[in-house]
Amino acid sequence: MEQDVVWAVSVVLMAALAAVFLWVAWGAPTATADYGPIRAAAYRSRRWLTALAVVVLVVANFDTLSELPYIAMARARAATATPAQTVHAVGEQWDWTLQPDHVVAGHPVEFHVTSKDVNHGFAIYDPELRIVAQTQAMPGYDNVLRYTFTEPGTYQILCLEYCGLAHHEMKATFKVVAH
Ligand code: CUA
Repeated sequence: MEQDVVWAVSVVLMAALAAVFLWVAWGAPTATADYGPIRAAAYRSRRWLTALAVVVLVVANFDTLSELPYIAMARARAATATPAQTVHAVGEQWDWTLQPDHVVAGHPVEFHVTSKDVNHGFAIYDPELRIVAQTQAMPGYDNVLRYTFTEPGTYQILCLEYCGLAHHEMKATFKVVAH
């Protein structure tokens, strides 16, 4: 809705600017001293229209950009700057170590994910085996994954990156409990 209004206003302003431009351009080849006042008026109104367009676009940009996901994410991140729960996850051929092995639903969880050997894929699956979040487990890196579980249950960590013979066996379970 808001986008439609902004679009309509932009189109009208662009059309107005184009009209003024054409009007000035049309008159330019035959411009003599007599056209001076007309041209001055045209330039004046063009300046006003340009200033108006700039103001409208700046306001519209500011307003609409604030709805973009990454800004909302940054706000959410700031709001949860101190996560209620931290889980340390270490991958190793071919197992996961999670400490602690349970979290509370409804509160943000911050997973710190790393690996002791090679790269692994750290993917969290809900009880229906739908993936809910994932990151990489990389030796020497502390990858942070934030997620807030809404539903209690038994969740699984499955490795999503081929890491050797028993890659498919690289699983772990953890509980999300109601608070
Ligand atoms: Cu670890 Cu695949």
